[in-house]
Amino acid sequence: MILRKTLSSLVLMLLYGCHLHMAKTVMNGGDLEAALPEPRAYIPDSQNLDFVYHDHEELTRFLRATSARYPNLTALYSIGKSTQGRDLWVMVVSSSPYEHMVGKPDVKYVGNIHGNEPVGREMLLHLIQYFVSSYTTDQYVKWLLDNTRIHILPTMNPDGYAVSKEGTCDGGQGRYNARGFDLNRNFPDYFKQNNKRGQPETDAVKDWISKIQFVLSGSLHGGALVASYPYDNTPNSRLLKGICRSSALCAMFQTYSAAPSLTPDDDVFKHLSLVYARNHAKMSRGVACKSATPAFENGITNGAAWYPLTGGMQDYNYVWYGCMEITLEISCCKYPPAYELKKYWEDNQLSLIKFLAEAHRGVQGFVFDPAGMPIERASLKVKGRDVGFQTTKYGEFWRILLPGYYKVEVFAEGYAPREVEFVIVEQHPTLLNVTLQPSKYFAATVTSKSTSSHTISSTTPRGPRGQVNDNVQFPTN
Ligand SMILES: *[C@@H]1O[C@H](CO)[C@@H](O)[C@H](O)[C@H]1NC(C)=O
Ligand SMILES: *[C@@H]1O[C@H](CO)[C@@H](O)[C@H](O)[C@H]1NC(C)=O
Ligand SMILES: [Zn+2]
Repeated sequence: MILRKTLSSLVLMLLYGCHLHMAKTVMNGGDLEAALPEPRAYIPDSQNLDFVYHDHEELTRFLRATSARYPNLTALYSIGKSTQGRDLWVMVVSSSPYEHMVGKPDVKYVGNIHGNEPVGREMLLHLIQYFVSSYTTDQYVKWLLDNTRIHILPTMNPDGYAVSKEGTCDGGQGRYNARGFDLNRNFPDYFKQNNKRGQPETDAVKDWISKIQFVLSGSLHGGALVASYPYDNTPNSRLLKGICRSSALCAMFQTYSAAPSLTPDDDVFKHLSLVYARNHAKMSRGVACKSATPAFENGITNGAAWYPLTGGMQDYNYVWYGCMEITLEISCCKYPPAYELKKYWEDNQLSLIKFLAEAHRGVQGFVFDPAGMPIERASLKVKGRDVGFQTTKYGEFWRILLPGYYKVEVFAEGYAPREVEFVIVEQHPTLLNVTLQPSKYFAATVTSKSTSSHTISSTTPRGPRGQVNDNVQFPTN
């Protein structure tokens, strides 16, 4: 049986104008990350998963076998097919794999968007194996899986992987999808018009993240050792476009031209990047991969400061959906020999876990109407941070924030906008429920709407496969 715990905490609600009401709620003992022992080092069992590269069939077999063996902790679904028809498998790992846990965040990892950078692909398979085999023995893993729904897409570019060569540290063979498109240049862009034709792999990911509101995400790459955060693009990168195809010229050009392109959540992105880098065996030392490549202070960098690019996935996640995604470059060699994989796992296992736990930092809550019904797609904006985010169909929202005082502006069609103040502390997330009053003009419409549509579903039935509240299809085989 699953013990559902609440992350109750300090709650600050502003009822009218600028009065600050404080209410302290009692915390359930032992359920906060800060109170837990560190996750234990996981000793992989080669009977379950060897440190070798798994081709698409082997990867599929592993995911199917794991979901069959751990039906209470995993669910396997495909978000679509690659150009050549390979499934883009996603494994959910959670104590509630088949349904979203109302009030608890969904997070994700994406591996192998560049087909010739498969270390992340293998790390994600090992992460799945780690989670399912440690759930009953490791308190930290249990806490994470009880309070988070973790979606893992080990390979976003299986076709590129299929034509990549083990032992190839550089170059572009296998980087692209089967039609020659770089998938990390294939997303709509905030700064520039991106005219690249949308690819099936990109479309599948866009569709996926439009259905599930992910709070936090990591995209795994190889070819450097650094955690890189948005923005990847900048308003003034025209000159660099094209030049950066040739890496020697690009490196020279960067030295003179690349300026950071910072988001209004720069403090949060730096923090998230540092969590990964510092929990990694060596990333935060900021040692250059080769003498010709840059050394990154503390093992982190702003994406555009490294080199600007148009159509990247992380800017899209953040700007379109408010999902904090960073890019994790985890191996100097893009496709190192398999015998090095065990070392990569040892270097990354703690980072991979602690990064996901950051989804439990900041503010989370619900937006309700006066009858206590959730308001879907209410828009929220933390003051001074102009990239907004929206509530889910259950009225939920999350935002990762560092300790401090904040104001959030809440808008929804038909309701009077509100501004609410709250405090974030280090030890636990802040719970914040906001009730919006109908604006007079829309009062009539609102009443009919709230009686007909939304209800909070703490009683959502655990549906059969293929029928879950995410609107994603679970295959039956
Ligand atoms: C899954 O959970 C159910 C209900 O909590 C339990 O009865 C069942 O034994 C579990 N199955 C496995 C394989 O752990
Ligand atoms: C906020 O609303 C949720 C969902 O109804 C509820 O479970 C939670 O207790 C509320 N929290 C506070 C502090 O009112
Ligand atoms: Zn890459």
